[in-house]
Amino acid sequence: MHVFRTIKKLKAHLNSINSEKSSLGMVPTMGALHPGHLKLVEQALLENETVVVSVFVNPTQFDNKEDLRKYPKTLSDDKALLNSLDKKIIIFAPEVAEIYSDKVTSKEYDFNGLDKMMEGKFRTGHFNGVGTVVEALLTAVMPNRAYFGEKDYQQLQIIRKLLKILNLPIEIIGCPIVRESTGLAMSSRNERLSDRLRKEAAFIYKVLQEAKDKFGTKSANYVVNWAHKIFDEHPDFDLEYFKIMNSKNLKPVIRKQKGQKYRAFIAVYAEGVRLIDNIALN
Ligand code: PAF
Repeated sequence: MHVFRTIKKLKAHLNSINSEKSSLGMVPTMGALHPGHLKLVEQALLENETVVVSVFVNPTQFDNKEDLRKYPKTLSDDKALLNSLDKKIIIFAPEVAEIYSDKVTSKEYDFNGLDKMMEGKFRTGHFNGVGTVVEALLTAVMPNRAYFGEKDYQQLQIIRKLLKILNLPIEIIGCPIVRESTGLAMSSRNERLSDRLRKEAAFIYKVLQEAKDKFGTKSANYVVNWAHKIFDEHPDFDLEYFKIMNSKNLKPVIRKQKGQKYRAFIAVYAEGVRLIDNIALN
């Protein structure tokens, strides 16, 4: 299994193995890999001859220093997991200086408002940080396809917008959310929950499913108020937001319209751990 630390060595290797016709898939990650990531890698392996998985904890997308400090760094476990999936996977695990030189700052993008609400509102500068690192990683590797999970649905829409801004010929593939057996969306943050709360956090997905049922007959406003009330009554969770948005432009729903797709989005704190999830409503 090849692991590269520098863009130069990675590029030299890719040039040596890739013929004009073979396709290259990329799965950008921050490591601490779980089955949700592995699903993205499996899909990339099915659709491409060569797959690069990047493992890079990007400092500029953390608005909270403590969150960055606590983020698990598990490169040797990640390597073992990827190796067990397919020995041909190429890992790109750069140091911060390789991506940022000596200036660890974000670029500023105009995401046309996609970054102003939900995660963007509660995590200042987060999406400029994501945009900066995704631009750096994708332009370094120049894959044919790049794979991202729908758990970070807002991020996925912003990355699609970024590709338009940069005019890069890379197909962005969104992959369905992978869940634990309880229904809790897989996340490296789940490891920080106590066993009790990890089971209890299945409540988040239950609320999303019930919201979907209610959305069939009730207004978006009704469903949002209902979800707030349910969380207000639950002692274990602190709701940060529950929103129903248009799936494409992420604008709030004033009145449901025929032919439009909608999604519910949620962010909650449990034992100080921030969990996010979302569901397609129609
Ligand atoms: O979704 C993630 O893990 C990160 O935001 C990403 C896309 C790898 C950028 O650091």
